[in-house]
Amino acid sequence: MCGIVGYVGERDATRIVFDGLKRLEYRGYDSAGLAVLSDGRLEVRRSVGKLAELERVLDREPPRGTVGIGHTRWATHGKPSEVNAHPHLDCRGDIVVIHNGIVENYVELRQRLRDQGHVFRSETDTEVIVHLVEAFAADGASLDEAARRALRELRGNHAIVLMSLREPDRLVAARLGNAGGVTIGLGEGETFVASDLTAILDHTRTMAFLDDREMAIVTRDGFRCVGLDGTPVDKSTTVVSWDPVAAAKGGYKHFMLKEIYEQPRAVSDTIRGRVNQGPASVRFEGVPWTDAAWRRFRRVLIVGCGTAWHAGLIAKFMLEDLARVPVEVDYADEFRYRNPLADAETLFVAVTQSGETVDVLVSMAEARQRGAKVLAVVNAIGSQAARAADGVIYTHAGPEIGVASTKAFTAHLTALYLLALKLGQARETLSNDQLNQAIQRLLELPHRMGDVLSRDQGYEDLANRYAKCRDFLFLGRGINYPIALEGALKLKEISYIHAEGYPAGEMKHGPIALIDEEMPVVAIAVRDHVYEKTLNNVAQVKSRGGVLIGLGNDGDDTLAAISDHLLNVPETSEHLTPLLTALPLQLLAYYLADRRGCDVDQPRNLAKSVTVE
Ligand code: G6P
Repeated sequence: MCGIVGYVGERDATRIVFDGLKRLEYRGYDSAGLAVLSDGRLEVRRSVGKLAELERVLDREPPRGTVGIGHTRWATHGKPSEVNAHPHLDCRGDIVVIHNGIVENYVELRQRLRDQGHVFRSETDTEVIVHLVEAFAADGASLDEAARRALRELRGNHAIVLMSLREPDRLVAARLGNAGGVTIGLGEGETFVASDLTAILDHTRTMAFLDDREMAIVTRDGFRCVGLDGTPVDKSTTVVSWDPVAAAKGGYKHFMLKEIYEQPRAVSDTIRGRVNQGPASVRFEGVPWTDAAWRRFRRVLIVGCGTAWHAGLIAKFMLEDLARVPVEVDYADEFRYRNPLADAETLFVAVTQSGETVDVLVSMAEARQRGAKVLAVVNAIGSQAARAADGVIYTHAGPEIGVASTKAFTAHLTALYLLALKLGQARETLSNDQLNQAIQRLLELPHRMGDVLSRDQGYEDLANRYAKCRDFLFLGRGINYPIALEGALKLKEISYIHAEGYPAGEMKHGPIALIDEEMPVVAIAVRDHVYEKTLNNVAQVKSRGGVLIGLGNDGDDTLAAISDHLLNVPETSEHLTPLLTALPLQLLAYYLADRRGCDVDQPRNLAKSVTVE
């Protein structure tokens, strides 16, 4: 959601914090701000809009200092404005705070503090934090002591960083619940704080991650961790292998385009080291269960949000078919409110790129409480979901910066396919031959994905032609129905064209009324076991005067004959077709959005990781 960066060291804090914020701008970008301790003063700069605005402000009056904090905001309480942008100051201008999360009891806290004489300047919930700390510091308490007392009064989930003129050698960072991560990065004579490790990867790979209700007192020599009750916590550090270069645009116009083209690599990295052929097997380094333990699961529950939920819907087909185990898929935001049935024989799978989506984290806790075993399929190393799960399957997509998820999606599908094979092996629903064959198809997949991505399929022509359309309909059946949903989601997220995904067979029960020459219909009709049925459904579009963009296998003349435009993918096994059909739809959405002049990487109102419920 919001991006947080902090620095204590010897170098120019403004530059380091600002550069870190640039790496996090995808998390929230309606306003931004930065504070630096400068010769006994707290210099604060804030601005509405994207970071380029803040940069203009900084260029005019650059604050100079070696300790600083910065924030990019995704507004929840109070509109995006300079005064509502973080950092927020206390009454005297001695203490500053940046914050991710929502102070659920801010109304009563603000009233109490106002009654005590505190003056509020913004409409945010965040500002109560800094006044509370000020109140506790008034009797001489140190910053960390005042912060500990203040934080105990907050309801909700929070990531917080504080800085004070009175203790200019340190930052205080804290995590309460799941409002995004708090990562501490250790350098030589300098220490970093960030909501997301990509912000500080340029400087260090040695990281520590705060857990719930932990606070770190951060100085240039490192950090000390305590619980909110004051007890010292022994924190271990991890060396992260992500390459900072992977988080740069590398010559592409947008991160999204770069990430689309990285998919063959992301998928092969996700497979690597996890499969054996001959006596075929699948193994996950982060999952501690024996085959007997895998066998004990009688059902699978999958949750996710947005694109990750679509990955879950596809996994249902893979798991039910290959491992013959019943699967339910829920939106994480719905799961916890439906009194779900889960027990010790339930495998609960949380699918999440960021590992910080709060709805997912809360569902994991709910499932665990009901006795289920929790497995996280997650991309972000050290994220909360990874740490809260009983087992983790990391996808190796690398940092995904574009808000609309692409490579994380296909990496999720790869990991979920491996999970289906693992369960199929343990439950003996797959013979050794079948498993060998499935693994072979999977190993060939990155090459096929590369083939699809290297084809010039006329995306720019399609974009020129249809950029002015107001609506799109996406159709698919079976395992490609969720791809229709995903194609529609990608398009609406980044181009703001209204789009719906529908099962092709359902079109006749409603959406068919919409068909006309103004609304392109994108139909996925690959040669799978429902191919002919899908073709019949799709033909109804043409016979009603609709515009048809067909997406089928190479050499499909039947589909070509009824389509106004054709997109092709090679054949693969049915369970893996979504990893190919997703690609032309990502590119179609990308070129349409770019043609319409939209901000592809940072679409309006969205955020990369959603840490509010
Ligand atoms: C946001 C993003 C989506 C993403 C969803 C779930 O809505 O804009 O791209 O699919 O969150 O995020 P997660 O990190 O849990 O996969």
